[in-house]
Amino acid sequence: MKVKKKIIIGNWKMNPQTFTEAKKIFSGIKKTASVLKKVITVICPPYIFLEGLSEKLSKKSFKNIFIGAQDCFNESAGSYTGYVSSIMIKSVGAEYVILGHSERRARGETDEIINLKIKVALEAGLTVVLCVGEKERTTNGEYLGFIQNQLQNSLLKISKYQVSKVIIAYEPVWAVGRKDWKTIDPRDLQEMSLFIKKILTQIYNKEVVANIPILYGGSLLPENALSILRDGRIDGLLVGRASLSIEDFSAILKEAENV
Ligand code: PGA
Repeated sequence: MKVKKKIIIGNWKMNPQTFTEAKKIFSGIKKTASVLKKVITVICPPYIFLEGLSEKLSKKSFKNIFIGAQDCFNESAGSYTGYVSSIMIKSVGAEYVILGHSERRARGETDEIINLKIKVALEAGLTVVLCVGEKERTTNGEYLGFIQNQLQNSLLKISKYQVSKVIIAYEPVWAVGRKDWKTIDPRDLQEMSLFIKKILTQIYNKEVVANIPILYGGSLLPENALSILRDGRIDGLLVGRASLSIEDFSAILKEAENV
């Protein structure tokens, strides 16, 4: 994967409540996203809206807008009531899947499960957005070891060929969903991005790692997106709440185009 274009992903979580609303937000975002030259936009709605929104892309050939899921099950098929497989996601036109989001980890998802999910997702031909992030930052740098473990365990036995379809999203849990929208200091982000690259280089090699995009997520708004992207020296953003607002998300996309 080429790291040149910025990758801006919208994680809609369990929103909006109706397909009518989902179509409205999606078409609003599409208007801006479709004309950008330096940005890849990925919208990750709830499963139930994946197919309907994918269809909105298939009629014209949009080369820079994609649909993604927010999770998939760690088995490809079988008697698993209520779950959705990576093959199903791919079959309705989605190309991406977010795995290991902190809101899922908080409900018991472990690195081992995430590792299995990455394998089935890659087998299905999806691009994986692997989320990592510490719960809190202490002064002794303990969080670095935490991120290292998350990366090493989640990517266990993922080959250097397979990892070319993996994106890392650094989302510190303390910055996700904050009421005050306080996000990371871009200098701290730059340091973390270098650290993630160092760990990945220990697993793979420099050439491989140069092509793995590193994204940031956590309380992003149009007001902080530019400095995070530019001064944080990262390849893109994973946007939660602000991706449900046509106005805010379009503004973030335009900022990314101009970095
Ligand atoms: P937020 O969510 O932008 O609402 O903080 C980010 C995320 O959970 O991906």
